[in-house]
Amino acid sequence: MKAAVVYYSRSGITKKIAEKVQAKFNADMIFVEPEKAYKSFPGAIIRVIREKAGKKNPAPKAAPADFGAYDTVFIGFPVWAATIPDFLQEYIRRADLAGKRVIPFATAGNNGREESLSALKALLPDSEITDYFYTSMKEPADADAWLEGIRE
Ligand SMILES: Cc1cc2nc3c(=O)[nH]c(=O)nc-3n(C[C@H](O)[C@H](O)[C@H](O)COP(=O)(O)O)c2cc1C
Repeated sequence: MKAAVVYYSRSGITKKIAEKVQAKFNADMIFVEPEKAYKSFPGAIIRVIREKAGKKNPAPKAAPADFGAYDTVFIGFPVWAATIPDFLQEYIRRADLAGKRVIPFATAGNNGREESLSALKALLPDSEITDYFYTSMKEPADADAWLEGIRE
């Protein structure tokens, strides 16, 4: 497989899994930054609540990468407000991932498993979404076992 890992991580939990993917599949890392960084935990919570209330529409800092060379694209994210962070959703919307195998991984506190997957399916109707991995503080899942199960 020729893989890329598209991910966002504010506090490092998702990043650790992204690094495992990189190590196992020799994948290229693509860190998606928001236009304006989310810093402290309380600051991020307040901002996301405001954004959800429609006061601001967050965007990614850079245009999407060219995914032409990849057959598989991993997409990793923390669950925010029970779904994929909005600026990352916008990045995914702008990216050309049609026909690609997309393997999502999410880290969370305690919810957003199904909501995140349906959001991704809606954003990528022309991609083959497989091997979804979700882990939470409440019910931690084994990322190494997940990686073992993914076909090359
Ligand atoms: C702004 C914000 C919103 C969050 N919303 C949720 C949520 O709705 N559900 C949940 O289970 N966890 C939520 N969390 C917790 C994160 O998903 C969790 O800590 C995640 O593993 C952090 O990953 P990271 O270290 O890669 O940023 C939220 C965290 C932040 C900062």
